[in-house]
Amino acid sequence: MQTLTITRPDDWHLHLRDGEALKAVLPHTVRQFARAIVMPNLKPPVRTVADAAAYRDRILAAIPAGQRFEPLMTLYLTDNTTPQEITRAKESQFVKAVKYYPAGATTNSDFGVTDIRKCNRVFEAMQEVDLPLLLHGEVTDQGVDMFDREKAFIERHLIPLKEQFPNLRVVFEHVTTSDAVQYVLSANNVAATITPQHLLYNRNAIFQGGIRPHFYCLPVLKREEHRLALLQAATSGSPKFFLGTDSAPHPRDGKESSCGCAGCYSALHAMELYAEAFESVDALDKLEAFASFYGPDFYQLPRNTEQITLNKTTWRVPDEVPFTESSLVPLRAGQEMTWQMADANLAKEG
Ligand code: NCD
Ligand code: ZN
Repeated sequence: MQTLTITRPDDWHLHLRDGEALKAVLPHTVRQFARAIVMPNLKPPVRTVADAAAYRDRILAAIPAGQRFEPLMTLYLTDNTTPQEITRAKESQFVKAVKYYPAGATTNSDFGVTDIRKCNRVFEAMQEVDLPLLLHGEVTDQGVDMFDREKAFIERHLIPLKEQFPNLRVVFEHVTTSDAVQYVLSANNVAATITPQHLLYNRNAIFQGGIRPHFYCLPVLKREEHRLALLQAATSGSPKFFLGTDSAPHPRDGKESSCGCAGCYSALHAMELYAEAFESVDALDKLEAFASFYGPDFYQLPRNTEQITLNKTTWRVPDEVPFTESSLVPLRAGQEMTWQMADANLAKEG
């Protein structure tokens, strides 16, 4: 296949940051996606509907002139989130979900939940008004091996949570293991996002000839058997699995450091990365539903009507792109890609 035209996709898990950083990265996402679920882990986090409204306005103001993009907002769940805030969120129309981070699990998660049981009243309210819960599904228990934290989260927290709130709609974000895939398939009202890096790489990528900080994200890349399980899930045609890049920009010096930040940057070329992953198992025909149908279906939003085109052609990912005072090293920097998205504006003119 030489060209692939599909319905314009959406990104159901994205970090846009704020201020100058937001202005630097937003055009990349706008070029590829019509909408995105925007993560709330700013400093300080987006905790209230008022915070989300203000952040949404800043995102809208940063959209390049003449382009369309709809940010779908989320609230950051804390020990102190109230059921009243959930009612307000549902009424707002623009808050689409609430994100759970275990305290200390990842970038800017200091305000995260210290004990998931503290949120039971909030989960009850979410189940009642049907507002989805998005989970960073890892335990933070230092006694649990880094590579087992997702599996432990399922057993310790997710299974009990779903027993208590069977109708609460949950997205298990950025799943990384076969255990998570199996759980999602077995559970009602549970879907999952999958990132490009977890479809394309296993944990060897982090240690290829030396330490490779740009392959470090959370949850960390896993063994090859898990990558294959994710690829199978993404290309299976199951509506429970959909696209979420988890593109998470960090300045170059924040990644290339004695204590480097977690996050891969893929907003520049996300669809190309996914196309390559799907093509690797001869499943390009499954890409459109994964990227453009199952996400809106889960969120009960209309599917997009515009289209995008990907062309089979080789190009080299830039070594870095400008980012505030620093730069940003995209996933696969300096290496070749085999698909390239046609510029939507050029396509229209042509
Ligand atoms: C994310 C970030 O940098 O905000 N990092 C990451 O490795 N995925 C946080 C997150 O989603 O865990
Ligand atoms: Zn994330």
